[in-house]
Amino acid sequence: MIISAKARIAGVIGWPISHSRSPRLHGWWLERYGIDGAYVPLAVPPERVELAIRALPDLGFRGVNVTVPHKRAALSAVDRIDAVAERIGAVNTIVVGEDGILEGRNTDAEGFIANLREGAPDWQPSHGPVVVIGAGGAGRAVVAALVDAGVREVRLVNRSIVKAEALAADIGGPVHVFPWFGRLAALADAALLVNTTSLGMNGQPMLDLDLGKLPPSAVVADLVYSPLETHLLAAARGRGNIVVDGLGMLLHQAVPGFEAWFGVRPEVTAELRAFVLG
Ligand code: ATR
Repeated sequence: MIISAKARIAGVIGWPISHSRSPRLHGWWLERYGIDGAYVPLAVPPERVELAIRALPDLGFRGVNVTVPHKRAALSAVDRIDAVAERIGAVNTIVVGEDGILEGRNTDAEGFIANLREGAPDWQPSHGPVVVIGAGGAGRAVVAALVDAGVREVRLVNRSIVKAEALAADIGGPVHVFPWFGRLAALADAALLVNTTSLGMNGQPMLDLDLGKLPPSAVVADLVYSPLETHLLAAARGRGNIVVDGLGMLLHQAVPGFEAWFGVRPEVTAELRAFVLG
């Protein structure tokens, strides 16, 4: 590890932050590419987040990732928001420009698509309806990514229907809202199912979803990566569906930030995946 007095510094802002895998991930790339730099965890409570983000240029940071629960709050803490972050309504990457201007970006949508292409290379947007569970920040990025990829029907299922309707109105495109109790019917003839909620994560209740109506040809993706094989993915794999776990999205969404801060476009490899999991 090289950290000189000229080191480039970036990090991740969240609350809490102790479970984040991002320092491990970026640390591996810094080592791998021999970069004079550091990527540090920044535990910032909600009431201090705007102050902390505003201080980044003065502290010499190149930028940060923004994680739960600050992705929406970061929108109003930056000077400029790029078109993707504006559309999704959330910021997960901040880049400090040469002039000290803070730019908010969102790389979750491209991270999701890159991971899907890697895990299910045969999936095509034209294959049929896509069911998305969840309408939080992650759900917004996934729906935007799918609409932009050319999916002709997104069936959005969320416990709070008002939130799903707001998402559909904001993102636009062929997004149809299904009530929570209608989630089983939404699976009929679907080509892809994506869980964007935190249900199924260690310490959270599992996602209560009977896959009976889902065609065996459908791809099932879960954004949860802890555990790597969620109950949903295990059930899908058991009935022959192709499954895509959530770790790859974490790795792929990190690529553009690392490139902007440290000047090298890093690679997502099997070795990196194993290291981040370890
Ligand atoms: P993120 O930014 O990670 O997407 P979020 O904005 O807090 O996190 O969104 C969490 C998602 O998980 C929401 O879709 C939420 O549903 P509501 O909009 O109805 O709150 C969903 N979720 C969380 N706990 C849930 C539960 N017990 N049952 C159903 N959905 C749940």
